[in-house]
Amino acid sequence: MKAIVFHEHGPTSNLKYEDFPDPEIGAGDCLVKVKAVSLNGFEPMILGATTALRTPLPMIPGGDVAGEIVEVGAEVDGGQWKVGDRVSIYPMVPGEGMTGETRLGGCCEYVRIPATNMVRVPDDVTDVEAASLPIAYGTALRMMVTRGQVKEGEKVLILGATGGVGTCCVQLAKAAGAEVVACGSADWKLDKLKEIGADHVINTSEQDFRQAVWDLYGKPNMRGGGGVDMVINYIGGDTWVDGCKSLGPGGRMLTCGATAGYATDNDIRYIWTYELSLIGSNGWTMEDQAEIMRMVGDGRVKPALHAVRPLSETPMSIQELIDRKVFGKIVLEP
Ligand SMILES: NC(=O)c1ccc[n+]([C@@H]2O[C@H](COP(=O)([O-])OP(=O)(O)OC[C@H]3O[C@@H](n4cnc5c(N)ncnc54)[C@H](OP(=O)(O)O)[C@@H]3O)[C@@H](O)[C@H]2O)c1
Repeated sequence: MKAIVFHEHGPTSNLKYEDFPDPEIGAGDCLVKVKAVSLNGFEPMILGATTALRTPLPMIPGGDVAGEIVEVGAEVDGGQWKVGDRVSIYPMVPGEGMTGETRLGGCCEYVRIPATNMVRVPDDVTDVEAASLPIAYGTALRMMVTRGQVKEGEKVLILGATGGVGTCCVQLAKAAGAEVVACGSADWKLDKLKEIGADHVINTSEQDFRQAVWDLYGKPNMRGGGGVDMVINYIGGDTWVDGCKSLGPGGRMLTCGATAGYATDNDIRYIWTYELSLIGSNGWTMEDQAEIMRMVGDGRVKPALHAVRPLSETPMSIQELIDRKVFGKIVLEP
C-alpha cells in the first residue's frame, strides 16, 4: 500500500510517500480501508520526538481514521461488524498504545484495528467529518463538558482556540450558552473564530490576552467580579500565570496539554487568593467519540475544516501545523 512514513525523527522532509507492507490482521482485528485521516497538534511532536514516549520506527503518522471494513478477523463477532461497515477508529489500543505514536497510524491506505476499538459512523456523518473528530473533538468534549462542566452564562477564555481542540471548545461553550473569548495569532483566524460563534476575539501576536480580558470584564476582585469563569489552556509555557490572572474568584483553569511547554512558572498566590481550581483532562471515551459524532449528525457541532487534501500532501500539511497557518483540521484522503 501507499503510506506516509518516517524512518527517523526530525523535520517534515523526513516524511516520505512510499510503498509499505499491507497490514496483516489477527483473529480479533478488522482491516479498515482508510477513506479519510486527520492531523493533530501531536503530529509535529511525535515526528520531532518532543514527547516522552518512545516511537518505534519506521512510523506512519495519523491517529484519526475513518473508513470501511474490508476484512474481518476469525474471532470478530459477525453480528456486530461486517465487511462494508463504516467506522471511525478509537486510536488508543490497550497493549499497543496510541495509533500514529506507538502503533502504525492512518496516513496510508489500510489500517489494522482491534474490533473493540471501532465506533460506527452514522449515515448523516461524512468520512471527512468522522476523521476530524476523535482526538481533538473527543478531547474537547471531555474537557469542556465532563471535566469543565461549562454552564450557561459563564465567561470562557480559550487560548489557541484556532486549532483542532480549540475550534470544538468554542462550539461546545456556545452550545452550553457561555460567552466565549477566543484567542488566535492572526486576524484571518480571528474572522473564522467569529464565524464559528466566538463573542470576543484576541489576537495574541498583538495583544496581551490577560490585559484584554481585564479590559472586557474588569480586573478580578477577591470580593467578587472581574475576569472569566473558565480558562482553557493547553498552550502552557508563558501563558500559564496570565491564565490564572485572567480568572475571577472561584474560576477554573482546564488543561489537556502544553503545546508551548509543560515546565511553566506558577504564581501560587493567585490560586489561594481567588480560590482557583486547576483541572486536568486527558483523552476521551468511546462513548464520547460516539456522542460527538451524534452532535455532528444533528448539527450541534460542525468540524472546522482547514483543508481536505490528497494523502501525498501530508508533509506540507504537517509543516503548516508547525508554522501555525492552520485553522481547525486538515484531512487527508488516500
Ligand atoms: N491529553 C489529551 O488527550 C490530548 C488530546 C488531544 C490534544 N491534546 C493537546 O491539546 C493541544 C492542542 O491540540 P490540537 O490538536 O488542537 O493542536 P493544534 O491544532 O496544533 O492547535 C493548537 C493551537 O495552538 C496554537 N499554537 C501552536 N503552537 C503554539 C505555540 N508554540 N505557542 C502558542 N500557541 C501555539 C495555534 O494557534 P494560534 O497560532 O492561532 O495561536 C494552534 O492553532 C496540544 O497540546 C495537544 O497535545 C491533548
